[in-house]
Amino acid sequence: MDKKITVVGAGNVGATTAQRLAEKELCDVVLVDIVEGVPQGKALDLTEAAPVEKHDARLTGTNGYDETVGSDIVIITAGIPRKPGMSRDDLIGTNAKIVKNVTEQIAARSPEAILILVSNPLDAMCHVAYEASKFPKNRVLGMAGVLDSARFRAFISMELDVSVENTHAFVLGGHGDTMVPLPRYSTVAGIPITELMSPERIEALVDRTRNGGAEIVSLLKTGSAYYAPASAAVEMAESILKDKKKILPCAALLTGEYGYQDLFIGVPVKLGASGIEEIIEIKLTDDEQAALKKSAAAVEELKGVLAKLG
Ligand SMILES: NC(=O)c1ccc[n+]([C@@H]2O[C@H](COP(=O)([O-])OP(=O)(O)OC[C@H]3O[C@@H](n4cnc5c(N)ncnc54)[C@H](O)[C@@H]3O)[C@@H](O)[C@H]2O)c1
Repeated sequence: MDKKITVVGAGNVGATTAQRLAEKELCDVVLVDIVEGVPQGKALDLTEAAPVEKHDARLTGTNGYDETVGSDIVIITAGIPRKPGMSRDDLIGTNAKIVKNVTEQIAARSPEAILILVSNPLDAMCHVAYEASKFPKNRVLGMAGVLDSARFRAFISMELDVSVENTHAFVLGGHGDTMVPLPRYSTVAGIPITELMSPERIEALVDRTRNGGAEIVSLLKTGSAYYAPASAAVEMAESILKDKKKILPCAALLTGEYGYQDLFIGVPVKLGASGIEEIIEIKLTDDEQAALKKSAAAVEELKGVLAKLG
């Protein structure tokens, strides 16, 4: 392959991301983890599946960073996931250290890479990686909105018994309990769901979306979701690698857009070869603005925690 993606963290999200990237034959994949043998073992296992899956992507597993040199994209999934009863924000102390260290290693070897953050708490980890990499803001982004909207789409399709392919959904804000699903921009075959469902049913789906991560955590008990998160990260990577210029909700650094400064928050962006090529500003109703403000305040609070952690 002529493109290379490094996935840091060979756990549930990282390994599934590597699998999807290879099976879509998007790029060669380097899988990095601190646990000896795990990235090597998973890369070898995926390589042995290649003849059956019919792809020629090369997969390499490593505990170091030399193999990552010259990556086009780096997807950072390293860190701990939450367990039942934990919020994403409870992970901040541990994951901030991990993400800072990982980003420094990556930035030194792939100074032109585009970073896609996955580790939680997502918006705060984007701040950590942005500062540690010193990359321009178009090359640091976070995966959350694509996952949150995929969940919303899945629930809409289940509710109305229609193909998921007919659904579109729109979610703004931080990745957490304050995310802001936008029903009036969520459609089935172009028809806003506000014309297809009662306000009560929409509210129920919105609520399930907001708690979508926690629902999986409570079922799995030993970790958090990874199939849908990996799919979401790969959709973002594909739009960048193929310069598709898809409009996707991603955590992006706002510098005045939507009235916020120096804050990573989920907004619709155009994703192409140079990363974030445009932040799309849409008109929000008073209620939506209030919900976004709450979401921004939650991210701002985590920025304060990061400052204390140093
Ligand atoms: N943004 C989202 O929507 C979203 C969705 C799902 C999971 N997540 C987050 O992604 C992260 C990973 O989740 P998971 O389910 O894959 O967890 P996991 O425990 O299965 O995998 C994490 C991996 O990171 C590795 N790791 C830890 N420190 C490292 C370091 N310094 N360098 C390299 N690797 C290191 C661990 O050894 C482990 O293999 C968690 O923080 C989780 O909360 C985010």
